[in-house]
Amino acid sequence: MNRESVNNIIKEYLPEEIGLQETIFSAMNYSMLAGGKRIRPILMYESYRLFGGNEKIIEPFMVAIEMIHTYSLVHDDLPEMDNDMFRRNKPTTWYQYGHATGTLAGDALLNYAFEIMLKSYDLTDNKHRVIEAMKVMATKAGVYGMIGGQVVDVINSGKSIDMATINFIYNLKTCALLEASMMVGAILAGANDTEVKNIEAIAYKVGLAFQIQDDILDIIGDEEVIGKPVASDEKNDKTTYVSLVGMDSAKEKVEQLSNLAISELQDLAKDKMPDAYNTLKKLIEDLINRDK
Ligand code: IPE
Ligand code: IPE
Ligand code: MG
Ligand code: MG
Ligand code: MG
Repeated sequence: MNRESVNNIIKEYLPEEIGLQETIFSAMNYSMLAGGKRIRPILMYESYRLFGGNEKIIEPFMVAIEMIHTYSLVHDDLPEMDNDMFRRNKPTTWYQYGHATGTLAGDALLNYAFEIMLKSYDLTDNKHRVIEAMKVMATKAGVYGMIGGQVVDVINSGKSIDMATINFIYNLKTCALLEASMMVGAILAGANDTEVKNIEAIAYKVGLAFQIQDDILDIIGDEEVIGKPVASDEKNDKTTYVSLVGMDSAKEKVEQLSNLAISELQDLAKDKMPDAYNTLKKLIEDLINRDK
């Protein structure tokens, strides 16, 4: 699965820009089509394949995770949060459409994700798997997941915090949606509870490495390449992994976590689809030195 194929699937599910509420449809589509690496739907798809999944049922969930992730970015950029005006090489949603529509477009994407997942209920006989997958999506996106991390991040802007608090924030604000991506792939393919737990532990390490690399790129990234402003964390006076342990240790940690994730994946993947394992391994490796 690659970025372009994800984009084609996403386009099938976006709303038509008609009716009196046309503005919000336009803002949703603007946010969803602005770009983005699509790493979460790709990880979801490959985890699904790893456990032998080969049906269309995965597609609504791929779209849903990207909608929830995109909504989290739309709100993250609001003046009340990180106050950023540039994302995915375009003006941020609030900057393009105004505060009210920016906020509502985020709300709409979150709700639309659940509308799409619910539709998939009628597409399969494995209805129990759909419910289990939706439970994971709901929990990992909520106050025990992404939102919980974002709120602790925001209330601590301008304060110095310790490693335990940083770990709490990253675990929730970033790892949670990565965990949901891989767990949902596994669940929809019929993985057992132990396998889903193991996938969650792997995704946690990938997610933590991903957020530390995001902090690194906030300092040494190229704005054109990352498609968002550098020094956003400094502007908001955030304590990050890098500000706590230094650049070199942060880079080491990214590599360590990624290698650990790959070795756990290798153990888990022994009797699974080798092709999906190789793709996942390559994806995780590529994240180590990513420049965007
Ligand atoms: C950015 O996520 C926010 C973090 C959790 C670090 P991505 O780096 O996946 O952003 P896009 O989707 O590629 O724009
Ligand atoms: C945000 O972290 C993570 C989310 C859940 C949106 P950041 O605030 O560091 O993400 P960027 O750097 O703006 O993409
Ligand atoms: Mg933020
Ligand atoms: Mg931000
Ligand atoms: Mg960042």
